[in-house]
Amino acid sequence: MTSPQSPQFPASSPENISAAVDETVRAVRARVSAAPQVGVVLGSGLGAFADSLTDLVKIPFGELPHLPSSKVVGHEGNLCFGTVGSVPVVCMQGRVHYYEGHSMAACVHGVRTMARLGVTSVLLTNAAGGLDPTWMPGDLMLIDDHLNLVGTNPLIGPNDAALGPRFPDMTKAYDPAIRDALLAVAKEANIEMRSGVYAWLSGPTYETPAEIRMMRLLGAHAVGMSTVPEVIALRHMGVRVGALSCITNLAAGITGQPLDHKEVEETARARRPELLRLLGGWIERVGAA
Ligand code: HPA
Repeated sequence: MTSPQSPQFPASSPENISAAVDETVRAVRARVSAAPQVGVVLGSGLGAFADSLTDLVKIPFGELPHLPSSKVVGHEGNLCFGTVGSVPVVCMQGRVHYYEGHSMAACVHGVRTMARLGVTSVLLTNAAGGLDPTWMPGDLMLIDDHLNLVGTNPLIGPNDAALGPRFPDMTKAYDPAIRDALLAVAKEANIEMRSGVYAWLSGPTYETPAEIRMMRLLGAHAVGMSTVPEVIALRHMGVRVGALSCITNLAAGITGQPLDHKEVEETARARRPELLRLLGGWIERVGAA
C-alpha cells in the first residue's frame, strides 16, 4: 500500500530504519533541547493533554522527516515537548494509522523517535469498541495484553540489532509496574477502571457483528485500529509500555445501532478530564519514583 502524500521508506532495510530515526531525532534536536523521560501517545479526541504541558513546544509531524501527518479527524499530528511537574515529557498529539496507507515502519516511526530521544516508558491511549455487553460507552480499560489480528508486524524484514533483538519477548508487553501505577492513580482519583485484552484490526471499516463474536470467543475485551504496532516497536527497543483504551462505543452488533466515528470522538472527548487526570497522575508518579 502506498499513499501519494506521505513520505514512504521501505520497512525492510535495517540501515534505513535506524538512519531515518536518527534523522528525525536530529531534526527534533535542531528545534528543542528537551531530554524527555516519558512518552505519551494521544489517541482520538485526547490530543488536548499535550496543550496542558508546561513550556510546550509543538512540532507538526509534517515538519519532521519520515513522520507522515495523520489525516484522521480528531488526530492533530504534532510532536509535543514540555513538562508535567518536574518530569520532561514528549507527546504524540495524534498518530499515524496503518489504514491510512502508510507502511508499518511509518506507523511506528514516532514511537521509535521517542525511544531514541531517551524515553524509558511510554503510555499509549486509544479509542476502542467494547466487546462486553455489560460495559458502557465511556468506560476506561487498562490494556493487559493484545491480539494482533492484522497479519503484519512492524518488525518484519531484516532485524536492525541497533534497535533490538530479532525475536523480542512479549510475555509482559504491558509493563506490570505501569499498570499498577495507573490503577493506583485511578483509585486515588476515584476513576473506575476496567482491564482486558485489546484486539487490533486494520480498519478502516468497523468490524462486522460476526467478527466481533469471533473476537469475544478469542478472549478480547476491546477492539481498535491502533496501538499494537507501537507496542511491538517499543518493546523491541526495550521501552516499558502501558496502554489505556477509552471504550467509546459497544462493538458492532451488540446494540444493533450502526457505528459512527463522530460518536467515537464525542465519547472520547467527554472522558477527557478523567483521562487527562490519569495521564498527569501517572507522569507525576514516574517522576517521584
Ligand atoms: N472498532 C474499531 N475501532 C474502534 C471502535 C470499534 O468499535 N471504536 C473506536 N475505535
